[in-house]
Amino acid sequence: NSAMIITGALVGSSGAILSYIMCKAMNRSFISVILGGFGTDAGASSSDAAKVDRPWKRGSAEDAAYMMQQAESVIIVPGYGMAVAQAQHALREMADLLKKEGVSVKYAIHPVAGRMPGHMNVLLAEANVPYDEVFELEDINSEFAQTDVAFIIGANDVVNPAAKTDKGSPIYGMPVFDVDKAKTVFFIKRSMGGVGYAGVDNDVFYMDQTMMLLADAKKMVDDIVKALQH
Ligand code: TAP
Repeated sequence: NSAMIITGALVGSSGAILSYIMCKAMNRSFISVILGGFGTDAGASSSDAAKVDRPWKRGSAEDAAYMMQQAESVIIVPGYGMAVAQAQHALREMADLLKKEGVSVKYAIHPVAGRMPGHMNVLLAEANVPYDEVFELEDINSEFAQTDVAFIIGANDVVNPAAKTDKGSPIYGMPVFDVDKAKTVFFIKRSMGGVGYAGVDNDVFYMDQTMMLLADAKKMVDDIVKALQH
């Protein structure tokens, strides 16, 4: 049946194109993605000790609301956890409130954030986030150094500086956002124990300018929205 052959060929070739895009964004070869240990427990074990011992700061929704109201610029970095929590609508509401206060709000989208190409773009579009506020990695990465707040929501691997510095890390070589250069970092995740897809610890949790916002992403953003409305 020629219709089935053509459909099969189209599905196969789009899969190949998406895999190519993903491998390019991760700076890895196709073979190493298919055969490699990225996303397994291999990387997690080396970092567990560090996670227990290192000091970190916990922030609250009120802290985040206050600091972002005072900021001139906020860059939001969404990841897989935002998708799981379905926090995109609450996030847009938060951004709208900040913009009303004169804060510049931008979204930074990594090509492999989430679990499929375009994952974040689709969710943000669903929440009616204006396209001109959404930027790709290479277009926005240099702005973190001049940004008051990097607001990381459910992302982890795509903001892990180990990708730049730690040759032994499974994500070494993957381009990542320079969130460590922002003046203040808010990092939403559910617990300090949880790791991203690659299973590695993240130095950003322990930086002086980082406040961990430990909660489900939607719940935390809802609470920030409430705090901004008071
Ligand atoms: P990840 O590194 O996977 O991190 C997800 C983070 O979300 C974790 O820190 C997790 O911590 C948190 N989280 C999970 N559920 C949450 C919730 N309900 N509320 C708040 N936080 C939650 O995500 P990323 O930065 O988007 O990176 C994507 C990874 O997937 C990359 O390693 C990439 O290579 C890989 N990958 C991507 C694709 C494509 S094409 N996008 C395909 C395959 C693999 P807690 O558990 O502590 O909450």
